[in-house]
Amino acid sequence: SVLEMEVEQINKGNYEHYMQKEIHEQPESLKTTMRGRLIRGGSCKAKTVLLGGLKDHFKTIRRSRRIVFIGCGTSYNAALAARPILDELSGVPVTMEIASDLLDRQGPIYREDTAVFVSQSGETADTLQALEYALENGALCVGITNTVGSAIARHTHCGVHINAGAEIGVASTKAYTSQIVVMAMLALAIGGDTISSQTRREAIIDGLFDLPNKVREVLNLDQEMKDLAKLLIAEQSLLVFGRGYNYATALEGALKVKEVALMHSEGILAGEMKHGPLALVDENLPIIVIATRDSCFSKQQSVIQQLHARKGRVIVMCSKGEAVSVCPGGLGRVIEVPHVEDCLQPVINVVPLQLLAYHLTVLRGYNVDQPRNLAKSVTTQ
Ligand code: G6P
Repeated sequence: SVLEMEVEQINKGNYEHYMQKEIHEQPESLKTTMRGRLIRGGSCKAKTVLLGGLKDHFKTIRRSRRIVFIGCGTSYNAALAARPILDELSGVPVTMEIASDLLDRQGPIYREDTAVFVSQSGETADTLQALEYALENGALCVGITNTVGSAIARHTHCGVHINAGAEIGVASTKAYTSQIVVMAMLALAIGGDTISSQTRREAIIDGLFDLPNKVREVLNLDQEMKDLAKLLIAEQSLLVFGRGYNYATALEGALKVKEVALMHSEGILAGEMKHGPLALVDENLPIIVIATRDSCFSKQQSVIQQLHARKGRVIVMCSKGEAVSVCPGGLGRVIEVPHVEDCLQPVINVVPLQLLAYHLTVLRGYNVDQPRNLAKSVTTQ
């Protein structure tokens, strides 16, 4: 109806599509996610994290034999993005499960496990069924959802709401970045304040405070990503190479492109390049390589060199001011992004890929907010 259309226009504000609005909203949604949860104490008080919904359960979580993250689609990718920092800080072994795969295998879940269910909607059938399975097996079940009162929020023992605000576009964007931030805060909260980790913890907390500003900065790449989309509009396929903190970014960037732009796209773990993907490299296939500055940087530099040696069509994402060190001789295109603490870099790096997927979709004339054959929440198996 006309009324419904008008309401929709009001909800979208100055944006043409919900996905576009939700991408650009991320500086605000991240602030809301962190509100009241980060404490930057006075001169002598340490910086800490407060997650009220979990406070009575941290003892059990720290004592558990394993923390297993379970989700589907973008929510799974968010857990994967947070995995390195959970590994580093939590002091408990961390594993990942795609909900359907856990169910297919009837994989091991024990009483001594903490099972964390990550879901934007809180209603995804596979994730919900995996939750029932974990409850039957006696694990402590934690929910990370964006929907108060959702099935997953209700059935878990405890949890954290990501508070990203309603997400309408079928392709998840702002929920992804908020999920990563919540899991980084979770890593800090589980880890506790040991002297040896104090500097690192403070750097992450400072990084979290500043993250909305850095996301605002990376959103300035909108026009540049639109230009790149124009260049790639007629491609059959796009590869995204990442590793370490940004393996998940490669998977999530590729997922955005295939979901909405209906273009084949694959996220590839760069360390596996020689075990297959290298055979695909030629002058035509576009390859985005994520090579922002972190402990994997020199390995990514060598990946870039090897792609160039095979005349690959390389587009490098690097930290601001580092174009020269990733693109010797000015070969290929670069996307320069603001540098943040390594474990938070996935929040920054996914944004240009969200923008690229968005612009590719609009330019190719497809439905951005409701891609063919997909649903916002998959409530049947
Ligand atoms: C569907 C949606 C995706 C989402 C996935 C998991 O496939 O289209 O955007 O990532 O479900 O949804 P959840 O609500 O559990 O995060």
